[in-house]
This record gives sequence, C-alpha cells and structure tokens, in this order.
Amino acid sequence: MEKERKIAVLPGDGVGPEIVEEGVKVLKQAGEQFGYRFHLHFGWIGGCAIDRLKQPLPQETLRICMDADAILLGAVGGPRWDRNPPEHRPEKALLSLRKELELFANLRPAKRFPGLENSSSLRAEVLKGVDLLVVRELTGGIYFGAKFTEETPQGLQATDTLVYREDEVERILRRAFELARGRRNRVTSVDKANVLESSRLWRRVAERVAREYPDVELEHMLVDNCAMQMIRRPASFDVIVTENMFGDILSDEAAILTGSIGMLPSASLGGGNRGLYEPVHGSAPDIAGEGVANPAAVILSVAMMFRHSFDDEEAARAIEASVTQVLNSGARTMDVAAVGDLALSTDQFGDRVVEELKKHPREPRVPVEAMM
Ligand code: IPM
Ligand code: MG
Repeated sequence: MEKERKIAVLPGDGVGPEIVEEGVKVLKQAGEQFGYRFHLHFGWIGGCAIDRLKQPLPQETLRICMDADAILLGAVGGPRWDRNPPEHRPEKALLSLRKELELFANLRPAKRFPGLENSSSLRAEVLKGVDLLVVRELTGGIYFGAKFTEETPQGLQATDTLVYREDEVERILRRAFELARGRRNRVTSVDKANVLESSRLWRRVAERVAREYPDVELEHMLVDNCAMQMIRRPASFDVIVTENMFGDILSDEAAILTGSIGMLPSASLGGGNRGLYEPVHGSAPDIAGEGVANPAAVILSVAMMFRHSFDDEEAARAIEASVTQVLNSGARTMDVAAVGDLALSTDQFGDRVVEELKKHPREPRVPVEAMM
C-alpha cells in the first residue's frame, strides 16, 4: 500500500525556486522507491507573494501549510523588499509560519562531508569528526517579544523584549535530550546566565529536565564561549540547545564547519509530525537565476522530512548516502569546488543525486497473493 502524504511546496525568492526544483526531484524519486504517493501543493511566500498578493504570507499559503503533512521551503527575501515596513518584509512570512504552526524546535545538523575538508576556512584537522546538531528554540525570545520605537527628549528609542516562559524552555530542552539519546548522549545548553534573567530561568529548567535523562550528559556553556569553542574544538559537540537568537547566530557559524552554508539543512518541528523543511541559507540574490546554487541543503532537508515527518529512517539515510556518494565522486557545485574543478550546475547536481538514489534497493513489495 502506498503511503499518502500532502506536501506544501513553497519555493520563495532568489535561488529558492531553482534549488526547490532539485529537492522535489529527489522527493519524487525517493517517494517512488520507498512506496509513497505525494500530493504536492505549491504556494507563494516571501517577496514574490508581496509582489503578487501584497502579503508575505497569503491566507491561501497558510491554508495549504496547515493542511499539509510537511512543508518544503526554498528561501525568502532580497534587496527589492529590504526597505519595506516590518509587516511587509519577506522574513515576516517565515516568522508567522513558524508561530502559526507552533514549530518551536529547529534542528540544524552540521556534519563533515567527505572531500569538503578543504572548502572550509578552518583547517581540515580541526574539522575532523564534526557531527553536531543545533537545536534552536524557534517561536519565543527576542524575535517575538514586544517591539516598538518611541520618541524621547534625547531622540528616538527602540525596544525589543526577550521573554521566555518556563513551559517554552522545558519543551525545547526535552526535545534536545530526546535527540541526544539517538546520538552521542551529550547536551550543551547555551545561554548568557551571567547577564540575562531569561538565561537563568533557562539554566534552572535545563537542570530539572536533565534529571529525567540520567543517561545524557548535560553541560552549560555561555554563548560567547560557545561561539569560540565551536571553531576551536567543533568535534567535541553533540547536541547544542539554545534560545532563538543565539541559535540563529550559532547555526550560521556551524555552517562554516561543513564547508559551505549550501550544505546545511534544517527541520522545524512542533508537537506532532508536521514539519517545515528548509535550507539554512538565504535567497542568495547575487547568484539567483544562474543555475549555480548548491541544492545539497534542500535535498538534505528532504531527507530530514522523511526522518521526522514520515518516520522513515531508511529513506532519509538513502538520500543522505546519495549526496555523500555524489560528493565522493568529486562532483561539486561552485561554492565547494576547488580551483580547477569542473563545477556542476544546480540541476546537474540534483540529477546526480537522483541517479545515486536509484541504486538504493527498493522497499520489497508485498506480492498480490499475500495480501488476499
Ligand atoms: C534563519 C534566518 C531567519 C531567522 C530570518 C530570515 C528571519 O536567518 O532561519 O536563520 O533569523 O530566523
Ligand atoms: Mg539565520
């Protein structure tokens, strides 16, 4: 029996459409091999939605997302909309989608891929064995607190508020501990407890949750120190759990460990199986439309979709292994190619991944007789 799944596909702006096309190629191939029937629903989001429908997250897009089992997103934003007021910026769409769907847990794995050791600005020996997961809180903190600008006698004054409730902290920590159990059983909880009240609450909750996971080791680390240790001894980290803005910053730093931000996938999850899958990189307007963007991050995000929304580790691993094999063969997009390498275009890279994927065994089909 084929498994039916509804997927919202939101290509967005800049390189979004061209990389998502490769993600969809891989999604369809994996679906065929692993026994799925996918229903894809395309929607506008970000700048292109502002241009067409005057809103970054149109009602219809939100509706297809609410109705979907999983969402595949490219990227939003670009210089064209940079001067728009906050409610009419492309980024607003992402923030609203995360909030509306209560996708509070953002998973950003950063792993060393073979052959990319020399594409990072860090020395290959520092990067040996890097395999970490940033678990970023995604629906709270300074991103969502009250913000306003007011006149004062000394001039304009702007306020952003960083608020965390205990239950919000608890659920993200719990998720981090659970994830650590499937990995190397280590959680680094990152905060700024020497200065911030919200971080002191975070630390207390972390201590309390940790007692329920005696098999997982918890360490606390201040965010400034963490930023340093991540490039000093990155291989020593397993799961890094942190609040929204620290996670935003640290996950870009983690991208350097993989060689290119074009390699970093992400999953944003809530309480159920529905998830939003997107590359960590942005819309890269400078290279949009040229067919040179690296589609690996979105393809690896599709792998995460199989793992977290469809609970299908086998398909997820097959996609990840296919990306690794393509890289192993020396095939590269421009961002990770060495000088003198022949760089593949976005769709050539996607095609190569599909070819590799086809070599993975199909799920054994139940013979018709056996079903009667
Ligand atoms: C990210 C991005 C977003 C964020 C922006 C585009 C709003 O940087 O997903 O990391 O800050 O969360
Ligand atoms: Mg970011």
